Amino acid sequence: MQNLIDGRAIAAQVHAETTLRAAALLQRGVQPGIVFVRVGEDPASQVYVGMKERKARELQIRSETLVLPESTTERELLVLIRRLNADPSWHGILVQAPLPTHIRQAVIYAAVDPAKDVDGFHPANVGRLLLGDEGGFVPCTPAGVHQLLIRSHIPIQGAEVVVLGRGNIVGKPMASILLQKGRHANATVTVCHSATRDAAAHCRRADILVAAMGVPLFVKASMVKPGATVIDVGVNRVPDPDKPGATRLVGDVDFLKVQPIAGRITPNPGGVGPMTIAMLLANTVEAAERQSA
Ligand code: GUN
Repeated sequence: MQNLIDGRAIAAQVHAETTLRAAALLQRGVQPGIVFVRVGEDPASQVYVGMKERKARELQIRSETLVLPESTTERELLVLIRRLNADPSWHGILVQAPLPTHIRQAVIYAAVDPAKDVDGFHPANVGRLLLGDEGGFVPCTPAGVHQLLIRSHIPIQGAEVVVLGRGNIVGKPMASILLQKGRHANATVTVCHSATRDAAAHCRRADILVAAMGVPLFVKASMVKPGATVIDVGVNRVPDPDKPGATRLVGDVDFLKVQPIAGRITPNPGGVGPMTIAMLLANTVEAAERQSA
């Protein structure tokens, strides 16, 4: 069935645009650079940071990963961030979450120079997004979902949107983006969460349903309005029923059952994931453009 939103193809479009912007900067003697900071040996973080770094290099963006031991103190990490803030050769700084529990994530994200905060996690950038000020950075995953909708020509203006999940990385910024007064926004946004009384009833009214609550296969066919656009942000590791002892990744959407009902739907993998990296590198080039202006 041809109702898939191909995140890999759309990410490739964004990468092509980013490559052109990076080349224009290089001509002026500026090579965009992003530095990744990883603390400890979380296996998923190792994979994600490795993918981001490889893609950056492919696009002629300078990148490096600094790996710190799990025992790193908050103060030591702050010292490193201040050094990276002051280093003009790094336009973007990304501190990969999760951090060890003895380090306060909010303190760390508030220490990154907002001009280099390509994650969009600094309180100043969170505030700019809410205010509709386009001079900040928007978190990469919801920005990527927004691009999937725009580039797939899904009408957003006036649409009923339901966002499942209210996390700081996806749910809240996603709602802010689509709620904004402006082009490619102006939606009526409902955010459902763990205390929502009847999430299914909300979902059934959605023209656009964004699932980002981290519950495997939560969205069933009965929760989707026929013809709706369904975006699956979920990445959940669950036991693999076919291979005892092994695990596999599933989304928040019961894809096989929902696909025949949905108008458009993202596969998972191959939907939102590639867009997150595409937006990160677009933000990095944006940061370099602004810093060298
Ligand atoms: N961990 C999972 N997603 C993200 C992200 O978008 N940015 C950072 N820094 N860490 C993450």
